[in-house]
Amino acid sequence: MQAHTDMATDESADPDTPAFQFTDFSYTYPQGGTGPALEDQPQHPTGGECVLVNGTTGAGKTTFCLAAAGVLCHEYEGRTTGTLSICGRDVRSYTDMGGEIGKQVGGVVFDDADAQLIFTTVEEEVLSGLENRGLQAEDVQTRLEEMLAFTSLTGFRYREPHSLSGGQKQRVALAATLASGTACLILDEATAELDTAATESIIAILARLKEAGRTIIVVEQKPPRALAAIADRVITIEDGRLTRDETAEEFFATYTDETEANGDRVETAGVARKGEPPRVVVQNLVHHYGTTPPPSRESVWISIRGGNSSPSSGGRTAPGRRRSSNTSTAFCALRRGGR
Ligand SMILES: Nc1ncnc2c1ncn2[C@@H]1O[C@H](COP(=O)(O)OP(=O)(O)OP(=O)(O)O)[C@@H](O)[C@H]1O
Ligand SMILES: [Mg+2]
Repeated sequence: MQAHTDMATDESADPDTPAFQFTDFSYTYPQGGTGPALEDQPQHPTGGECVLVNGTTGAGKTTFCLAAAGVLCHEYEGRTTGTLSICGRDVRSYTDMGGEIGKQVGGVVFDDADAQLIFTTVEEEVLSGLENRGLQAEDVQTRLEEMLAFTSLTGFRYREPHSLSGGQKQRVALAATLASGTACLILDEATAELDTAATESIIAILARLKEAGRTIIVVEQKPPRALAAIADRVITIEDGRLTRDETAEEFFATYTDETEANGDRVETAGVARKGEPPRVVVQNLVHHYGTTPPPSRESVWISIRGGNSSPSSGGRTAPGRRRSSNTSTAFCALRRGGR
């Protein structure tokens, strides 16, 4: 993957200007019965910095992302106090979300890529980001090729986004956001649903963007250790407040991630009764999507007993058989088809 030189210059954030500056800021949702979902966040990531945001469920991480992207102040009702500046400008002085703030912070990449991908091809998704930038037609074409290459999506450009794997979809969501020319990138649990390889491919892209001077905010409740390679700081939010702000070295020195704790598989606490027949048996299943790509020659063999978790990383294969990386998806597709 080779980033165009413009990615390193035109779109990098100013290293001397805080990307986000919250001053006595608080936000309460319209139905926020229990008080503010976000209160003063005294941290000021600058250009080229990568900040990992951590916190338990309901802590306010997504609310923080929405605030930092300008969405809370421009598109949500609710009560805001204090000020927030984005790339040196008060959030309210931006006239619109799309073009103006989009140039600074191109939106948030969420965990559910399906909800974010609305066009019929990968290429159209990326073009939608480029078209907001008022570029000349030939520049649009050049940037499109660069962005597809940068995110390893060139071979998927005519594919329908919803037909891609989870990791590929996240790369499309990332490419579409980057295409808007954003200097800051915000990812909210963007790798939460991905396996180790797909997560690492996203982190490799982030590493290159960081090198190019982008400010990166990565929200992960259970951060993969690979993030230690790019994160500068880790902040922890609890009950809407920032409670810890430490270096990535400090945070990861005492951190154990889920894959380290459990191997690559999360075991269930259920108990299988001895001699009980498997509840689900899949034998020699071959499935392929549509007729254009060649059918997979790999077959799927799964046996699930009471108390077993369903396969989370490719499924079980009979001894001597190659493991199918599409097992889970194929299995769900068949289920949806009612067979
Ligand atoms: N649209 C909304 N209206 C009212 N309250 C909301 C809304 N969205 C979130 N909240 C509340 O704000 C608080 C923070 O929610 P938020 O989604 O930011 O947490 P989070 O840290 O992202 O959690 P998770 O890890 O589960 O995604 C929670 O108490 C939540 O119930
Ligand atoms: Mg969240």
